[in-house]
This record gives sequence, structure tokens and C-alpha cells, in this order.
Amino acid sequence: MLHHIISMKDFSRDEIDIILKRAKGFEPIAKGKKSDMLSGKILATLFYEPSTRTRMSFETAMKRLGGDVIDLGSIESSSVAKGETLADTIRVIGNYADAIVLRHTREGAARMAAEHSRVPIINAGDGAGHHPTQTLLDLYTIMRESSLSNLKIAIVGDLKYGRTVHSLAYALSLYRADMTLVSPKQLQMPDVIKKDLKKQGASVSETVNIEGVIDDIDVLYITRIQKERFPDPSEYQKVAGSYRVTEELLKKARNNLIVMHPLPRVDEIDPAVDGTRYARYFEQAFYGVPVRMTLLAMAMEAL
Ligand code: CP
Repeated sequence: MLHHIISMKDFSRDEIDIILKRAKGFEPIAKGKKSDMLSGKILATLFYEPSTRTRMSFETAMKRLGGDVIDLGSIESSSVAKGETLADTIRVIGNYADAIVLRHTREGAARMAAEHSRVPIINAGDGAGHHPTQTLLDLYTIMRESSLSNLKIAIVGDLKYGRTVHSLAYALSLYRADMTLVSPKQLQMPDVIKKDLKKQGASVSETVNIEGVIDDIDVLYITRIQKERFPDPSEYQKVAGSYRVTEELLKKARNNLIVMHPLPRVDEIDPAVDGTRYARYFEQAFYGVPVRMTLLAMAMEAL
């Protein structure tokens, strides 16, 4: 059976719980303990959009498990620049690798790629669509640094174009989390997602005001305004800098609040917050390694 990872909508809570439990066992390997679990296996990475964390944590995960990585490289230097379709690219690379990690500009690209692939496709972000492996590491971070039980979370920033928050909201509905969506009116969570969440009985409210919720949450999950996805740059200017987490804001927070961010950040979090007890975004980036190790091992049927 092919273990494609396309959207959090495809996961049950039991499946997520198994992944989170297994990821804990990979932490020592993520920190350097030797493993040859994926020796002889090859992962292909295809990034049609920029990435630091997703690309490099998948590479780290694969290499620390004893496997190899091949990379399409820059789109300009590949045959995509000659007009090769995504379907053909996927068909060909399936002959070279045991799984493919794909980031693409177009929503739905990963699902389409899966239809043409003989090896597992792992969606590393499809336009403004979904980013399921980010969500799994986000859930893992909450499990490790806070709790997924009775969770009260504010999801803040660009909820329209931010794919990480789309995936996260679906997953958190399975955990019965109390979600407050904080965004400018223009960047609210798409209606189609809100309807899905309501259908699942999720507890979701919306506001534009971060100050109104800061004293009543366990997790503050803030995101970058996705400048590159705005059709009109002047519309971006109207919402740029809408939210900024500062030490002053955090004075009103619970002692055990954690601040998360999928990164990269622009100006949403004052660097002065990095040294406070609230910051968890760099731990979050590390947790991408054990979680992605788990996903690779499952995709390549080593678990
Ligand atoms: N969080 C995330 O997807 O980061 P990158 O864009 O650097 O991969």
C-alpha cells in the first residue's frame, strides 16, 4: 500500500496518535544516535517554492536514518524549465527514489502528483492549500511542550493564505481543541474550512483582537502574512505588521503559555521574546526531524 501524505483531512485521530508516539522514539536519532533503518533507500526532494526547514529537516531525517537524498535542485536548472509537466516529472523520479517530498506553488498539486506516482508522495506544502507534515510536528510540539488535552489555542495572522494553519485547524478539531482564529478581516480562514470544522463539531471563534484572548490560552500560534500570495501588493501593505508578539503583550499571558510559529518569521515576534520562557518556535523546528523520520520510515515501510 502507498503511504501518500497529502492532507490532514486524510488522517484519523488514531493515526495521528500513532505517529506522535513513534516520533518520540526517534528523538535520540534526531540528536545524532546512529541508525541504519533506511540504509539503501533514497528520498527525492522537489521544491518548486523556497524552503529552509522542510527541505533540510527531511534531508536530516533521511541521512540520520542511513538513507540518501536526491534533489531536483533549482527549478531553473531542471527540465521543468523546458516545460516538463509535474505528472511526467513525478513518473520519472519514481524510477529513482523510494519516496518523493514535493512542495509546489499550486494548491492540489500534491494530490495530482500522487495520482501519477508509483512511490509515496509527501506534501511539503501546496500553494495556499495544506502542509500536513508541518501540522504533525506542530501537534508533536504541543504534546511535548504543553498538552493536547483541553487545549485552548489562538491561531493568529494570515489565516487565508497560510497553509500551515489550514492543516492545523483540521487536526486540532480531532482533539476537540478550543480554537480562536485571530486575523484581519481580509485574511480570515476560508469559509470552506470553517464549514468543515463546524461540521466536525469543532469549537471555533473569530476575532481581530489578540489582546482579548492572550490571558486565556495555552498556545499562541502566530504566522507570517504570506506576502507572496497577494495578487495585489497594495492589499498586502494594508495588513502587513497587523500582529506582533512582544514581552509587553506576554505580561498578560498565563505562565505556562507557549508561543509557536512555523517560521520563517518576518516581524511577528519581537526577537526579545526568544529568550523568554514562552518561546518554543526553535524547539518546534527541531521536532520536525523526529516527526519526519517517523513519516519517512512509515512511507518506506521500515516501521
Ligand atoms: N515552516 C516551513 O514550512 O518552513 P520552510 O518554508 O522554511 O520550509
